[in-house]
Amino acid sequence: MKPKIYITRMLPNEIIDKLSGDFDVRMWEEEDIPVPKEVLLKEIEDVDGLICLFTETIDEEVIKKAHNLKVISNVAVGYNNIDIEAAAKRDIIVTNTPGVLTETTADLTFALLMATARRVVEASDYLRRGEWGSWSMMQLTGQDIYGATMGIIGLGRIGEALVKRAKGFDMKVLYHNRTRKLEKEQELGIHYVELKDLLEQSDYVCLLLPYSPEVHHLIGKEELSLMKNDAILINSGRGGLVDEDALFHALKDGEIWAAGLDVFEQEPVPVDHPLLTLPNVVTLPHIGSASVKTRMRMAHLAADNMINVLKGNEPITPVFLI
Ligand code: DGY
Repeated sequence: MKPKIYITRMLPNEIIDKLSGDFDVRMWEEEDIPVPKEVLLKEIEDVDGLICLFTETIDEEVIKKAHNLKVISNVAVGYNNIDIEAAAKRDIIVTNTPGVLTETTADLTFALLMATARRVVEASDYLRRGEWGSWSMMQLTGQDIYGATMGIIGLGRIGEALVKRAKGFDMKVLYHNRTRKLEKEQELGIHYVELKDLLEQSDYVCLLLPYSPEVHHLIGKEELSLMKNDAILINSGRGGLVDEDALFHALKDGEIWAAGLDVFEQEPVPVDHPLLTLPNVVTLPHIGSASVKTRMRMAHLAADNMINVLKGNEPITPVFLI
């Protein structure tokens, strides 16, 4: 009997073909609807491997139902959707997809920063609404990017890739991270500062740290009040890092200048969400890693992790309990 795999969202045929030879593959086949919890609870019962997206919550309840499960392969670098402690207790290996999405996500983060700073979406909408009466001096003026100060919170792979883009714009880069990275400071020409100093000094505050309950609402009312009035917040990490209510008020009251958000506490973000009513917010539907090549690389890495574990080999990119 072939080992069984359940896939929680449609993956490209290339990936299914790669898995089907050696495994009995079942898949949730709705493209845009996440697998309902009751379906997942049923499907998980007899499988050896699970391939999931970060949109699926793999909590203790799900893990307890899995009698044969050996590996959970997340098609994402972030894995806050998985209870890794509950998995470890059952000796279930968890894997993610680091490395393959670094540059693509850094590209998107910088694109979001540029679009927010130069009011690209707002300006395009203005033109299409027929409001462009004539060219005028201060019409749709934004913030400069070159020579400005970028503050990166969370200097992992994507943070480092973002530094390289910032340096191309002659930006000064500050960073705050759980651990100081002295060799990176030398190599990349960046400066470590405390969170408070980063918030006070940066023109762009970019959130790129992984989400965990310890950093829930890391950026709240107090932190936003430390930022400059013309500063911009960019979040391409996870929605839970920011207190959205506090952000709404800070943006509305002019405490900070604008925000570029690729992620939200609730995704998909409801279309009547207060943040979506503000002109100084650029919003995207969590597309940091969304290039064709990168998504294919992520899917292949997730499949390879699964194949390795189920064939008794080491996973390529395991997640470790810290
Ligand atoms: C991730 O990988 O964690 C992203 O949020 C989705 O690409």
